[in-house]
Amino acid sequence: MAKKVAKSRAKAQKADETPMGPTGRPYHGFPIPEPLKSHGPARIIALCNQKGGVGKTTTSINLAAALAEYGRKVLAVDFDPQGALSAGLGIPTHDVPTIYDLLLDTKRDAHDAIVHSSVEGLDVMPANIDLSAAEVHLVNEVARETILARVLRQVAGSTTSS
Ligand SMILES: Nc1ncnc2c1ncn2[C@@H]1O[C@H](COP(=O)(O)OP(=O)(O)OP(=O)(O)O)[C@@H](O)[C@H]1O
Ligand SMILES: [Mg+2]
Repeated sequence: MAKKVAKSRAKAQKADETPMGPTGRPYHGFPIPEPLKSHGPARIIALCNQKGGVGKTTTSINLAAALAEYGRKVLAVDFDPQGALSAGLGIPTHDVPTIYDLLLDTKRDAHDAIVHSSVEGLDVMPANIDLSAAEVHLVNEVARETILARVLRQVAGSTTSS
């Protein structure tokens, strides 16, 4: 019995030492990525959820900035007509080439639509309200679901960030 109590006290003590996050749950431990020796082909991470207001944009901005801080070269591709990711990173979205222009003209060089952000190593491919018309404009396009992948393939091997 005494052994059992001691064991549960030790467990509670251990729990007290665990730092708690703002939601009252313990923080997750995340491994620190190894420093990179070279930059290879990009890994593409899509953050998507049909539900609105669940933190897609917030997560994208913070993940992109955190990866850039760890020395990764990051291209944040805004694929939302609201342009909140671009605006959140301080990128103007009007009168600049955007992801919409690349979707409609696949011969266009995707590098044209890359803008440097104020964060070192973090570039942005902006979007604006034009993107809301893309679905209608591309309705007759064959294999339209592969256009974004084709655009990103052009820049997956390199980023323009210095
Ligand atoms: N981890 C978090 N904890 C608490 N609040 C958060 C968190 N992530 C995002 N939020 C808040 O939730 C709200 C919605 O976030 P966000 O705009 O990133 O969602 P979204 O999924 O991109 O929305 P939308 O569908 O409109 O594009 C914002 O007010 C944001 O500050
Ligand atoms: Mg959003």
